[in-house]
Amino acid sequence: METGFDFDRYDHVRPILWTGDALELLDQRKLPFRIEHVACHDSDAVAAAIRDLVVRGAPAIGIAAAWGVVLAARGVDVADGAEAAARLEPALQRLNAARPTAVNLAWALARMRRALAGAGADWRELVEREAKAIADEDLAANRHMGALGAALIEPGSGVLTHCNTGSLATAGFGTALGVIRAGMAGGRIARVFAGETRPWLQGARLTVWELQQDGIDATLIADSAASHLMKTGAVQWVVVGADRICANGDTANKIGTYQLAIAARHHGVRFMVVAPSSTVDLDTPDGDAIEIEQRDPGELYGVGGVRTVAEGVAAWNPVFDVTPASLIDAIVTEKGVVTAPDPARMRALFAA
Ligand code: MRU
Repeated sequence: METGFDFDRYDHVRPILWTGDALELLDQRKLPFRIEHVACHDSDAVAAAIRDLVVRGAPAIGIAAAWGVVLAARGVDVADGAEAAARLEPALQRLNAARPTAVNLAWALARMRRALAGAGADWRELVEREAKAIADEDLAANRHMGALGAALIEPGSGVLTHCNTGSLATAGFGTALGVIRAGMAGGRIARVFAGETRPWLQGARLTVWELQQDGIDATLIADSAASHLMKTGAVQWVVVGADRICANGDTANKIGTYQLAIAARHHGVRFMVVAPSSTVDLDTPDGDAIEIEQRDPGELYGVGGVRTVAEGVAAWNPVFDVTPASLIDAIVTEKGVVTAPDPARMRALFAA
């Protein structure tokens, strides 16, 4: 698509680098003050990196897992793809188990299985080509969605985003943050607000840093300031990513997204979900069927490694929630936009 938009000018950060020998992951646990990479030389190292949030964000973990399959193939010496698939299956299962909620992980592994199933003696080259295609297609999808989503936003608007959905969470450009990049460049977005995203602080540590790298001004808010911000009239859209979008449009995303959608509806602020079609899961009928990842309650006991909570206190730490389709104004994907999502509209765009 010809947009006239200088993509590279607004997109400098890359979380995943395939060296031909190893998978280098920008360590997102250390940002923004330390730029360090973790080199993964086998698929179990990739699974551990996904589980421990070295790499995070739904599309990025799918891409990392695809490269994990390429690394797993290193030790396998068989004649064709079907045999390789059987030998690699345990490694694929371990990658798949690293995180449960984002469907992009299972989607990428299913794609790698399909590539293997049809492959002959050249199966090794084919899996490597498939991993690269998954990454390249993600970047292209993000750029396309950026333009589609930005077009929905009236010039001069303010937006609020949540978590990190940017280049750090994808092959590049980002999903919701891609819309924000395109919207800023096109003069449609005048103000960007980012919520901190307790407890892991993807917004505070990653999103505002990533935007700063690209010269985009953003204002950080405490998650608990969102309703108050909406009441001031400073934002017209909440723009977020997704970890899984169900057949009826219900959407799982970072914990706190649901309360933003409720507050947005109350204040007449519109609510946009931006995700590649690899995040759409027509096999999951609705949000009740999504497994919500629970992480260590220890994430709630302190900030930056400093304990802030008395010993002996219980904590509950679900890290995703589900926004019902009825609170979503638009789901933006590279295949097109679904407004006021419902099962029929979702099927019409994604079932083909
Ligand atoms: O736990 P995380 O940081 O992996 O959660 C990420 C999110 O919830 C993102 O909003 C989502 O994956 C979309 S990323 C383009």
